[in-house]
Amino acid sequence: MKDNYYFDNAATSWPKPEPVYQYMDSFFRSHGVNPGRSGHTLAIEAEQMIFSTRKMLAQFFGFTGDPNRVVFTQNATDSLNMALGGLLQSGDHVIISQLDHNAVLRPINHMRRDNGIEVSVLTPDESGLISVDSVAASIKQNTKAVVVNHASNVIGIVQDLSSIAAVARQHGVLVIVDTAQTAGVLDVNMADGIDILTFTGHKGLFGPMGIGGMVVGENVDLQSSRFGGTGVDSISEYQPQAYPHKLEAGTISIPGVAGLHAAQKWFADLGKSVSNGKYSTHADACRAARHHIHQTETAHTIRIWDHLQSLQRVKMMGQRSNQNQYVATLSFLAEEFSAQQMADMLDADYHICVRAGLHCAPAIHSAFNTADQGGAVRISPGFFTEESDVDHLLDSLTQLLH
Ligand SMILES: Cc1ncc(COP(=O)(O)O)c(C=O)c1O
Repeated sequence: MKDNYYFDNAATSWPKPEPVYQYMDSFFRSHGVNPGRSGHTLAIEAEQMIFSTRKMLAQFFGFTGDPNRVVFTQNATDSLNMALGGLLQSGDHVIISQLDHNAVLRPINHMRRDNGIEVSVLTPDESGLISVDSVAASIKQNTKAVVVNHASNVIGIVQDLSSIAAVARQHGVLVIVDTAQTAGVLDVNMADGIDILTFTGHKGLFGPMGIGGMVVGENVDLQSSRFGGTGVDSISEYQPQAYPHKLEAGTISIPGVAGLHAAQKWFADLGKSVSNGKYSTHADACRAARHHIHQTETAHTIRIWDHLQSLQRVKMMGQRSNQNQYVATLSFLAEEFSAQQMADMLDADYHICVRAGLHCAPAIHSAFNTADQGGAVRISPGFFTEESDVDHLLDSLTQLLH
């Protein structure tokens, strides 16, 4: 048995590609200075690395606008707080859904309670899909935005983003997309009608913790919610209005951005290699890489899903007909054990890392009647999961649940 069999990639991807560790270390050693502050060569070079990362991420997300609108934050939670807080004002209505993570639910609940925001919470169907009709039916005169959970961190279902975006657009409603579970795995293009795309660095983008961001479309203007040093326009009493400084205050994580930088190059190299050099642009090569990653990861999930379904007294969350409509995350419950018992046994007896509980997404567990039972067991293989890891997982599940 190995020391660890890691099936918790929905929490964070691990391990990272080797060049990410190497570049974080080397860049932090050679350029671990404050970017954009002092005018010396090292600071300028650090700033150049940051800008080139903004450019790569803009291409990665199909954004043809100013790369300075790729704004760095700490993580998806930070981005969602800043996007929602910077957009919604008292009297505005926002549409969210039961699939949303606490990174959306909690800021929205605070804004509903404290700032006079109106909220509609959409219910998914039994497979987890939000119908486009229900989005259309919820739009009101004062609807400012719809938040789309691109893929659920509990059941892995992917929403029909472009159809939801098209309906929103028809009604002049802004589209905010939470790509925490899809960035790096599926194509997410600003051109598909997204106004604000929020991402986290440490999951499918293969960066470290502590770095995330958002792409703010050129038709949107977010109010600043962080105020402080930017290294530019220091005389101004207020936050500068130009992007990214409007939203970025304080020193950016150089190791974090360096990690994302190396990961972006790793995506492009992977895409070139799996397509035999067919794609030369960053955007095209990364698209090929994402497709390859999605296929690789979901092949593992299909095996795990089919195996669990073949076991007695196991209840899967959601239903699956078309596996392409999912990322590589699934959740289940076993009749004779609580979710936490299952996770503890898998860890202690088989060295398997999974996550039990509500997964910071309580509403989807309410919708699927798993909240009262303390949630479910989530299994999320990743790109570096090996077939033999899955073999070990399936054997262990059989031994526990036969
Ligand atoms: C769907 C979804 N949204 C938001 C988040 C928050 O991401 P972070 O913890 O990196 O801020 C997560 C993380 O689990 C998630 O799965």
